[in-house]
Amino acid sequence: MTFKAFYGMTFNPFDKSIQVEHIYESGDYKQFSSRMEYFKTAKGFALLYGEPGSGKTTSIRAFTAKLNPQLFKVVYLPLSSVTVMDFYRHLAVGLGLEPRFRKVDMFHQVQEYIANAHHQKNMTTFVIIDEAQFIQHAILNDLRLVFNFQMDSKNYAMVLLAGQSAFLHQLSLQINEPLRQRITINYGFKGLAKDEIGSYLTSLLKVAGVAEPLFTPDAVEAIAAFSNGLPRKVNNLAEKSLLVGYQRKVRAIDADIIQTVQEDADIAL
Ligand SMILES: Nc1ncnc2c1ncn2[C@@H]1O[C@H](COP(=O)(O)OP(=O)(O)O)[C@@H](O)[C@H]1O
Ligand SMILES: [Mg+2]
Repeated sequence: MTFKAFYGMTFNPFDKSIQVEHIYESGDYKQFSSRMEYFKTAKGFALLYGEPGSGKTTSIRAFTAKLNPQLFKVVYLPLSSVTVMDFYRHLAVGLGLEPRFRKVDMFHQVQEYIANAHHQKNMTTFVIIDEAQFIQHAILNDLRLVFNFQMDSKNYAMVLLAGQSAFLHQLSLQINEPLRQRITINYGFKGLAKDEIGSYLTSLLKVAGVAEPLFTPDAVEAIAAFSNGLPRKVNNLAEKSLLVGYQRKVRAIDADIIQTVQEDADIAL
């Protein structure tokens, strides 16, 4: 028997592989989505920032899953310090192109793709650069040029830059002013509000087939305090406390269990 079977869960909703149709529509998610609806028409650049584990990538996944693939060509680029050449190669491959050898050729190749998609198929290219805090300045500078059309008068593509708040400092440098001026929307993830934690937990338990809340009100409060509202931390606490609850053969998770789990996590650090 596993903790999932013990609590009657069909799957573990606190796992990072959660399917987009199961996610909790948090305040952050709703704010982000409504800004992105506008961004779909305005295009250009969008900026999304927030602490690690605040739910940025999950929200992006949920938003892009709803886009009509006939109208949007989505390329997701998780950036771990790649070179400019690698960046162009990944972008070209992501668009389904055979990357050319020189940077300047890939530049034109990508621009041609975006313009053709727009003019011939009425399709918007949507490039997502995740973990943008790792972006090299040279790439940041090129981005504006690659996605610049008809002397700057038209936006044919959407570029979403998502990253940790540190990325804001990089963008605020004078040298990045031209790019900054092209940012159509921006949103900073705040994490779950205190009064969202309870419904976040019950909503995730519900999609996994559990109708009871499992977490007592004081456990919910403890989770809110220890997690700072970061979904990743909430999930860690929830999953580990369910394991402890299962070992103790108790149905309800109380603040004492959350405290125990949190102390173990502190020691592990
Ligand atoms: N709205 C949500 N509904 C359900 N789970 C979520 C939600 N947002 C985040 N999570 C969970 O928290 C984890 C961390 O979120 P993630 O989107 O990876 O954060 P970030 O990209 O900001 O570092 C995810 O793997 C997922 O399990
Ligand atoms: Mg992420």
